Amino acid sequence: MAKRRIVIAGNWKMNFTPSEAEAFINEIKPMVKGKRKCDIVFCAPYVTIAAAQKAAKGTRIKIGAENVHYEEKGAFTGEVSAKMLTEIGVEYVIIGHSERRQYFGETDHTVNLRVKAALAAGMKVILCLGEVKEQRLSGITKEVVSMQTKLDLEGVSAEEMSRVIIAYEPVWAIGTGLTATPEQADETCGQIREALAEIYGKQIANATTIQYGGSMNEKNAAELLAKPNVDGGLIGGASLVAAKFNAIVDAAQI
Ligand code: PGA
Repeated sequence: MAKRRIVIAGNWKMNFTPSEAEAFINEIKPMVKGKRKCDIVFCAPYVTIAAAQKAAKGTRIKIGAENVHYEEKGAFTGEVSAKMLTEIGVEYVIIGHSERRQYFGETDHTVNLRVKAALAAGMKVILCLGEVKEQRLSGITKEVVSMQTKLDLEGVSAEEMSRVIIAYEPVWAIGTGLTATPEQADETCGQIREALAEIYGKQIANATTIQYGGSMNEKNAAELLAKPNVDGGLIGGASLVAAKFNAIVDAAQI
């Protein structure tokens, strides 16, 4: 079985101005130095990316974006293309975050278009998916995440899958302080892996990094990351506090 890369990624959301991001990266840089068992990424607001990149220069910390549009250019006010991101050296991009789906009308179709555009531009995608509370309570989580996996990755080739990370983020756990239990996280990441195996076969499914996200913090990270199907974390709130994020990176050094 391929050994999967553990990826600990911060999702800053609408936090950190350029100077705040610079100060944060300067603070966390020495803390995470030499912790090579995981890749470390911070996804930043567009205007903050350059300052964060400058501060992270010469380290293993990568700075990503929080979204990307699917067209190369044109009349799409407020949007940013993959080419704009790659030209400034951005490799990673979050796509399909539940806040984008909930508040900005994104659907599996637009998420799929964005995924394909980012991959075509050579980027690495952190594709977010997960069930809402009612779906978990109705016992249809497996169906929901399988369907999202299939729709969001429609038309993505087996070769491109080496640049796709999936973040399993139960919507009820995001920013709520509620965390999936390690067993729930492991089970659902496993169900996503089964859906990947149906599309791409076992080998690719076993090689794909699947993160957990949703109130992961310095206290619960070790237990979550110890689960066989959980290959890292996508972290919101705790990615804004260097000591907390560093503790999660430490929990991944196993
Ligand atoms: P949270 O956010 O860690 O604050 O719950 C996670 C996310 O939205 O990616």
